[in-house]
Amino acid sequence: MLSWDEFDKEDAVAEPVKGANAGHASEAAMDKLDSAGGAAAREARAVNTSDSAAVARAKAALDKLDIAEGLAELEGSAARVAVDEKRMINCRADLNQLVPFKYDWAWQKYLDGCANHWMPQEVNMTADIALWKNPEGLTDDERRIVMRNLGFFSTADSLVANNLALAVYRLITNPECRQYILRQAFEEAIHTHAYQYCIESLGMDEGEIFNMYHEIPSVAKKAAWGLKYTRAISDPEFNTGTVETDKELLRNLIAYYCVLEGIFFYCGFTQILSMGRRNKMTGVAEQFQYILRDESMHLNFGIDVINQIKIENPHLWDAELKEEASQMILQGTQLEIEYARDTMPRGVLGMNAAMMEDYLKFIANRRLSQIGLKEEYPGTTNPFPWMSEIMDLKKEKNFFETRVIEYQTGGALSWD
Ligand SMILES: [Fe+2]
Ligand SMILES: [Fe+2]
Repeated sequence: MLSWDEFDKEDAVAEPVKGANAGHASEAAMDKLDSAGGAAAREARAVNTSDSAAVARAKAALDKLDIAEGLAELEGSAARVAVDEKRMINCRADLNQLVPFKYDWAWQKYLDGCANHWMPQEVNMTADIALWKNPEGLTDDERRIVMRNLGFFSTADSLVANNLALAVYRLITNPECRQYILRQAFEEAIHTHAYQYCIESLGMDEGEIFNMYHEIPSVAKKAAWGLKYTRAISDPEFNTGTVETDKELLRNLIAYYCVLEGIFFYCGFTQILSMGRRNKMTGVAEQFQYILRDESMHLNFGIDVINQIKIENPHLWDAELKEEASQMILQGTQLEIEYARDTMPRGVLGMNAAMMEDYLKFIANRRLSQIGLKEEYPGTTNPFPWMSEIMDLKKEKNFFETRVIEYQTGGALSWD
């Protein structure tokens, strides 16, 4: 265990030197930095006889460091942040000051995401391996479902993670939302890890599974549709700030949060969880259950972000963009219906493509209304009410009992 007694108390009482994090580079602030830290820094930096040539070079290089120039490169203005200055996009307040919070919902989701932490190796895969290797264990249709879904999801989560890290993170100019986006990006890495863990445990052909998004049309179409919406904003030269570029970011958020994470995942989730409910591939199903819990939070975060951007920039949400957003959700629903037909050529696991079509239309209505658009599939009902139950895992008191190793929190880590 770490102990603070190991630290020399004399070090702790030394006058703290105000450094680069103390604020921005106004003239007055820079003068203060110099007078507070100047003498001590000069003394510490003096080259002495025990210094090697390399250490001496490092000290000399720091003599040339221009703090004002470095701080000027930080995003946002040079002052303490007031809540009113915070904005989802095109914000001019300092983005390195997390508090005061403006969007409590984003911070709360960050905390909830951390509280739900899990790792793929914690799930027992023994029964799945036995069932998968037994030639009589599953029907061909059931095997097709497992293969197709691992094929789709193993690369889809990478697409989502890349979109977040390489495009969205930079353009959302709010630190509490960025904090959640970092958490989400890590969760996407865990999801990709989970699929890899399933593929490896079951001894599948990794090349076949990971390449499915190139080779199987119903998988490839969904990936291609998502990639279309990340192309513009992942260009390092892309920036928001005009009506057209702000709209482009909104289109991306709708594509990824409402369609990829909000529709494209739902046929596969339902199929695999239905398998688990029938006591088949229970380890894979448990992995998907954890993933679905994470994904429903990603989706809700995305909906909040989209709606907050609309509130702050009502001019963006015009008739043209509303029509486009509605079309995007309907196209996504259509592609997922086609995926349902490809993965279920016949009835299987108590479901069939027609039932899935109803479910996807029900989901699409939800996505449309969540961002303030008209439902396009009136009168559709949910044929799988148990899916809603599974999404709220808090109801399942014994959920963690199936974990095979104790999860260690930071406070309980042993360094032995
Ligand atoms: Fe994911
Ligand atoms: Fe996600």
